[in-house]
Amino acid sequence: MTNAELEQIVDTSDEWVYSRTGIRERHIAAENEATSDMAAQAARKAMKDGGIEPDEIDLIVVATCTPDMAFPSTACFVQKHIGAKNAACMDLSAACSGFLYAMDVGRQFVSTGGVQTALIIGAEKMSVVMDWTDRSTCVLFGDGAGAAILQAKGAPYGILTSVLGADGTLSDLLAIPGGGSRHPLSQQVLDERMNCLKMAGREVFKHAVTNMANSALEALGRCGATIEDVSCIIPHQANARIIQAIGQRIGAPLEKFYLNVDRFGNTSAASIIMALDEAARNGRIKRGELVLMVVFGGGFTWAASLVEW
Ligand SMILES: CC(C)(COP(=O)(O)OP(=O)(O)OC[C@H]1O[C@@H](n2cnc3c(N)ncnc32)[C@H](O)[C@@H]1OP(=O)(O)O)[C@@H](O)C(=O)NCCC(=O)NCCS
Repeated sequence: MTNAELEQIVDTSDEWVYSRTGIRERHIAAENEATSDMAAQAARKAMKDGGIEPDEIDLIVVATCTPDMAFPSTACFVQKHIGAKNAACMDLSAACSGFLYAMDVGRQFVSTGGVQTALIIGAEKMSVVMDWTDRSTCVLFGDGAGAAILQAKGAPYGILTSVLGADGTLSDLLAIPGGGSRHPLSQQVLDERMNCLKMAGREVFKHAVTNMANSALEALGRCGATIEDVSCIIPHQANARIIQAIGQRIGAPLEKFYLNVDRFGNTSAASIIMALDEAARNGRIKRGELVLMVVFGGGFTWAASLVEW
């Protein structure tokens, strides 16, 4: 869906959206396509790339804030779709930070030896939680999925550190307030569109910059690395202006960041892994290089991971 198409839905313009966010278009899943359908498609590609058979997978973690249903978990549906019959399955709720949180959960399981092969997925159908009458939010998000396989290989590469953080006192600033046990689905919830994403955009912007910059620096510090050692930064693809501001804070030129927000918008938990996948496929990341991933989302939650590729 292009900005021009959005102009037909809400009072906005390509100029406003692009200049404020860097977004030109986003993808919208088909009506009959749920989050687990996109997640399973990404999982199949990751398994093919890694040469992994479905029955080798011991754990599936799906990071999402748009699950197919309250339960069963989206991970259970993915298991069904891909036939990973030996896998334990769970979803992880950390909004846009979900993929890096899930990757660290997978890393912990794999590094203890409790799990040999973990399938970590970030997948979202954000289009179903958009208020398509609210121009301040509906222009920002898109649908998508990405997947990664984690194994302990003993090779001189992998996840060096992960920094995870949260501040639940600011939960009201970015949320889908209705439809859960606090405000169960009712006519009033629907009338007030409380089943849709609500956001205090300016506040979110400020906290996103501060927390992503700080967690990126903390991840580097833990490994005794500097920003100069990093070849590529994969930031949460929420807004190009947020990314520019992070660059200023951590002393990284814009060229060091991989950006695809222009083509996908903010795909929440899918954003980091979709960008990482693109960057790896198109040669932007090479073996042995340091890759810094950094993300922020509702909760608030944030995370940074330093990876040797
Ligand atoms: C949402 C965001 C782009 C808004 O940009 P902003 O410069 O802060 O804009 P404001 O919210 O102050 O709104 C400025 C004006 O633009 C208008 N506006 C909002 N959305 C608009 C749109 N899509 N098209 C045109 N005008 C719009 C507002 O109504 C307001 O008009 P007013 O001054 O007449 O009241 C920006 O705050 C942002 O990116 N925040 C972070 C969002 C994010 O990334 N969230 C996810 C993090 S995981």
